Amino acid sequence: MEQFYRMLKEYNIEFLKKNYDVPEWFLQFTEDPPPLYWRTIYKILKDEDKAKPIIEVGAGYGDVTALLYFLEFKNILSFELNRPLIEKINQKILALCGKRPTVINRKYPVKTDHTPGIIIQVNCIYSSSFKTKLDYLEGIRRLYLLNGIPYMFLFESIDDSYREPNDTYPYYVRLNEDDIKQTFPHCKIDSYPTYVYPNNRVSKTLYKICT
Ligand SMILES: C[S@@+](CC[C@H](N)C(=O)[O-])C[C@H]1O[C@@H](n2cnc3c(N)ncnc32)[C@H](O)[C@@H]1O
Repeated sequence: MEQFYRMLKEYNIEFLKKNYDVPEWFLQFTEDPPPLYWRTIYKILKDEDKAKPIIEVGAGYGDVTALLYFLEFKNILSFELNRPLIEKINQKILALCGKRPTVINRKYPVKTDHTPGIIIQVNCIYSSSFKTKLDYLEGIRRLYLLNGIPYMFLFESIDDSYREPNDTYPYYVRLNEDDIKQTFPHCKIDSYPTYVYPNNRVSKTLYKICT
């Protein structure tokens, strides 16, 4: 994994020389160590069955996508709503993993032709379609259910221990483990802190939600 991350980081450093207008979160993938959420996904998925179909929500610049291809998952379907990113993801996966990824330029959830084994939504909190915490949690549950219940849902959320005002992350998208347990009542839930305020800008937790 260390060697693969070194390649990913070098690729991103070169990419930055030609693409100045990148969001700040992308810069994590040009530094050491790799972001904790990325390492956590690696640890969770490295021994999983690689035949399980994956849906990735919000591929961004393809850094988690690249990890999934590196781990040799056989059936990965990524969604990214920002069209200009699609070709950048394609180029990254081809350069680093020798594969042409399947990246769909749509906002997930949408109907697919199979049930995912694993859904991954990390570093991807968009609050604008919701007004209350209940709305927000129902939206997350709809996304989880739409194509049939996955065996595993990896979902990173803003943690409600983070109490500073922040327009990007209104209070209703800040969750705790009880919110997750109530939203997924029959699931086994493990939680992994990935960012902690004030060392980081916000606090986040990655939840592993399994049937
Ligand atoms: C902050 S980036 C993170 C990308 C990636 N998950 C990572 O950790 O490197 C989030 C991306 O998700 C995309 N996005 C947000 N909501 C989405 C949705 N419902 N369906 C597809 N893409 C989405 C945004 O366009 C953005 O590029």
